[in-house]
Amino acid sequence: MKSYITTPIYYVNGSPHIGHAYTSIVADIMKRNRRALGYDMMLSTGVDEHGQKNQEAAAALGMEAIAYLDMRCKEFREVFDLFDVDYDYFVRTSRDAHKAAVASMEQTIFDKDLIVKKEYTGKYCKGCEEFKRDSDLTEDGDCGLHPTMKIEESKEINYFLKMEPFREKLLQHIEDHPDFVQPNAFRNELKKMLAEPLEDLCISRPKSRVTLGVELPFDPDFVTYVWFDALANYLTTINWPEGDYSAWWAECEHLIGKDILKPHGVYWPIMLMAAGLPLPKKLSVHSHWTGEGGIKMSKSIGNVVDPNEVMDLMGVDALRWYLARHMRAESDSQISVELIRQTYNSELGNKIGNLLSRVAKFSNKNFDGKVPVAGALTGEDEALRKLVLEAAAGFGEWIDMPDIPARIQAIVAAADAMNEYIDQQAPWSLFKNEDTRERCATVLYVTLDCQRVLFEALRQVIPGSAEKALAMLNAPAPASPWKAELDKLPGGNPLGEIDSLFPRVNAPEA
Ligand code: ME8
Ligand code: MG
Repeated sequence: MKSYITTPIYYVNGSPHIGHAYTSIVADIMKRNRRALGYDMMLSTGVDEHGQKNQEAAAALGMEAIAYLDMRCKEFREVFDLFDVDYDYFVRTSRDAHKAAVASMEQTIFDKDLIVKKEYTGKYCKGCEEFKRDSDLTEDGDCGLHPTMKIEESKEINYFLKMEPFREKLLQHIEDHPDFVQPNAFRNELKKMLAEPLEDLCISRPKSRVTLGVELPFDPDFVTYVWFDALANYLTTINWPEGDYSAWWAECEHLIGKDILKPHGVYWPIMLMAAGLPLPKKLSVHSHWTGEGGIKMSKSIGNVVDPNEVMDLMGVDALRWYLARHMRAESDSQISVELIRQTYNSELGNKIGNLLSRVAKFSNKNFDGKVPVAGALTGEDEALRKLVLEAAAGFGEWIDMPDIPARIQAIVAAADAMNEYIDQQAPWSLFKNEDTRERCATVLYVTLDCQRVLFEALRQVIPGSAEKALAMLNAPAPASPWKAELDKLPGGNPLGEIDSLFPRVNAPEA
């Protein structure tokens, strides 16, 4: 069983931001989940190095394109490593084999007479790297997504891919494969995009205007349009056309934000059909993060959440936790450093981390540094164990992108139940009396073993902290493939060194 997950490859005209962190972290969570289920995994993420926007960013810093791209690429890669994104392949579109494959795809399509050369006048948004129709623009004539970038009028001779011949076939594919685009809101949006005849897609830029790109194989005066080049990465990453790519390609799932639904839902499938290649298995689309109050993040408003700042303040798992837990499937969600901080303290700290250190420290002190040995279980013990097992079992099953928040919510609910259980059972009082010491040991065992189960599941979400928690419990290595199981923490086993897992973080002084 194979699964190949891709993230968008991000423009390098600036530093990685919270949106880039989001898609790559979610992809990583899905990879860890599927690996736990026994799948052979491939995860690609990386950078989109061509196009006008990147070219101008290099020029603005007075840097040579190659030096600029190397610098940004290093920055993105290092940040994804810090995010604990366990990618298998880091894409750079400046790679020679990628460029050669892009050119060969173009030549194939050109040879089928699906590419025409003509003059075109249009309005271009550099932010999107796309031509816009008047109906795509706001009343002020801006692109809704990039209000600060001026729409440019351009009149140029370029090469165009014929799209209309494939529209009906693509619509039919979407009809026949309900899972091709998910969630449904985005599937419907895509169907709407395909309801009207499609204009030809401009696939080139004259070198007089853009030099950062892949030269067209049939006309050296032009480079390839950045989207054509970027989309092809999903195939070139798995060594198309020479290598053994087809088994991975058949299981490919693209994760994207809704901003790039059209290139992935319209351009890419039609490029593939034109080249005679099969379509990917699935397109999973997510909504956007906005600043507090639902306001679009922007440097001028000052509500941009810098992932590096969050990691410096609270650690990577505060960031991963908030992103994974608080994105709604079909509408935008809010994020700010303060929201992340509050969630970190209340959920990771108060509900999950503190319970572990309290119970583990108490056991360590009063049971000779060992996991207490359980006696007979009561109905309350069994009820808690059942709830925890069911919550953790959600991570032993397949998780689609929109399922992630609810699966984590189940873990939080189980942590709530554990806190309640401990308050009711009060092992600290049970320990004081000879008669109830055995019961005390049972309560501690039940709690520690339940914690082991939850942290095994949470390795998929917050791997660093979960491993640290399992080391405190000195838990045996979880099986792989994994599923949630009780009683794997041996009673009488020595505990590991106990430390605070999620130390409280106070609001920075105003
Ligand atoms: O579009 N909320 O690159 P890009 C959530 N190079 N996710 C967000 C986000 C937000 N506010 N902002 C960005 C490109 N993202 C092309 C892609 S792929 C062949 C080429 C995430 O740097 C989300 O995944 O503009 C979005 O689709 C992507 O970053 C856009 O990144
Ligand atoms: Mg963008």
